[in-house]
Amino acid sequence: MLEHGVGDVDWLEIVSENFFAPGGRPWAVLERVRAERPVAVHGVSLCIGDAGPLREDYVARLLRLVARLEPAIVSDHLCWGGLDGAYAHDLLPLPYTEEALALVVDKVRALQDRLGRRILLENVSSYLTFAASTLSEWDFLGEVARRADCGILLDVNNVVVSAKNHGFAPETYVDAIDPGRVGQLHLAGHTDHGHVVIDSHIGPVPASVWALYRRVVARMGRVPTLVEWDEQVPAYERVVAERARAAEIEAEVLDHG
Ligand SMILES: [Fe+2]
Repeated sequence: MLEHGVGDVDWLEIVSENFFAPGGRPWAVLERVRAERPVAVHGVSLCIGDAGPLREDYVARLLRLVARLEPAIVSDHLCWGGLDGAYAHDLLPLPYTEEALALVVDKVRALQDRLGRRILLENVSSYLTFAASTLSEWDFLGEVARRADCGILLDVNNVVVSAKNHGFAPETYVDAIDPGRVGQLHLAGHTDHGHVVIDSHIGPVPASVWALYRRVVARMGRVPTLVEWDEQVPAYERVVAERARAAEIEAEVLDHG
């Protein structure tokens, strides 16, 4: 895929766990990429919201990856994914309660102490909410970032998906987020089935996501932005073109602003 270099992109993102094994072809490709561009490290199984302490085996592998790669950004998701040793292989939404907030804040602080740097936490898409929640998702995310002193990876598509599924205005979400905390943005496609919107990462970025992206850029300025395209992946150049569209919109919004 990258025989001719990484193309017209400023940086790239990898999924952390794909590089926990310290060798082989994945690392050979990654070291070529890293020699050309900064790399962001994005995890999918930290499960920061799981009950109990951080998993030491996971933290050790993440520390090794970060020490070797010296990434520009280290991120994972504001979610849970395991219970009593069973792992769901999914990014599950938390109940937005003070109890969950205190748990996540303690674990983010502990992880940042181990890493010696800040992490970004990403808002996940969801299809259900908990009756026990006492906070909105945006207030919960903002409070985690403030109390743990971490950053936010704001996934604009995830906001649109969850807004449609749960019936809130996506503008309310992004307007509540402190721009000073946002260190990265994600854009992606989703699949609208009418009664439910699935965070499929299939296809180009939809108009609804571009519209919210314009609002985010107007509010937050220039933020490193990544296009995620994980299913029915087209030619690399097509994904790069989608990223170029984001840069065009960013320039349009900021030049007019
Ligand atoms: Fe994302």
